[in-house]
Amino acid sequence: MALPKTEKIWHNGKFIPWDSAQLHVLSHVVHYGSGVFEGIRCYETAQGPAIFRLQDHMQRLVNSAHIYRMDVSFSVDDLSNAALELVRVNKVPACYIRPIVLRGYGDAGVNPTGNPIETYLACWEWGKYLGEEALKTGVDVCVSSWNRPAPNTLPQMAKAAANYMNSQLIRMEAKVNGYEEGIALDTHGYVSEGSGENIFVVKNGSIVTPPLANSALPGITRDSIMKICRDLDIPVAEQVVPREMLYIADEIFFCGTAAEVTPVRSIDRIKIGSGARGPITKRVQDEFFGIINGKMPDRHNWLSPLNVPSAVVR
Ligand SMILES: Cc1ncc(COP(=O)(O)O)c(C=O)c1O
Repeated sequence: MALPKTEKIWHNGKFIPWDSAQLHVLSHVVHYGSGVFEGIRCYETAQGPAIFRLQDHMQRLVNSAHIYRMDVSFSVDDLSNAALELVRVNKVPACYIRPIVLRGYGDAGVNPTGNPIETYLACWEWGKYLGEEALKTGVDVCVSSWNRPAPNTLPQMAKAAANYMNSQLIRMEAKVNGYEEGIALDTHGYVSEGSGENIFVVKNGSIVTPPLANSALPGITRDSIMKICRDLDIPVAEQVVPREMLYIADEIFFCGTAAEVTPVRSIDRIKIGSGARGPITKRVQDEFFGIINGKMPDRHNWLSPLNVPSAVVR
């Protein structure tokens, strides 16, 4: 399915037409996966369009680049303001925003330092990642036969393009076997995360999620869910999760920018809890969607509205 084009893409500080955002086939990123990126959502709220946790995403982008010794010549504020301007010029109030910092065309060897750093921001309209229905009914998933990369191989705290070769193996395997998504274990056999989502496990009224040391991405939605749980007085902790804990959980849900908060109703054809969205997942969803739709107060200042001067970007 082709992406729904918008008019402009931001490249190194300038807006260029969508179709002009082209790379040479010998660009370093094409051969060696040398790019770091983000996925951000802009929501149509009751008070007008607003970008969710914009600065936190841009900070993670800059962190990812820093891990890979990439000098981004734009600050978190510059990038955040560029994202707001991008959505304004493209006039797509509800959209997905994709910033990417990559190593471009120059040298062909593995050492990337002779290649220019290029920064792009694009946005387009994108619906529900795991389907609209999935938010209510939940998804059927499997534990993947593919593990997450071991510690000190590919750094999983960086949201790097190369990591997504692993995610693709997980997602494709799940899909060909009739599941919506796969859950990856880390190299020690403990639960890590979905191919593009963090995971939360509910048992006896408490919630746990794997720590980052289990090769999980420091998800911005994961952080938001933990804050929401604390607001709602639902006990939440980062805790190592053995595989079998998944099967006997009362409820499980995925979270991420793309998946938002999606219940999991079965794993490896084993029913989770009642096999439907559970009450705690529903409470977390109501709070999360209430905030991002502007129907509940934005008490954590997570939304950067488009229709106010860029000085208040957050
Ligand atoms: C591997 C992986 N884990 C978790 C997440 C969720 O992160 P976030 O909530 O920041 O979108 C994503 C999505 O970006 C992801 O690709």
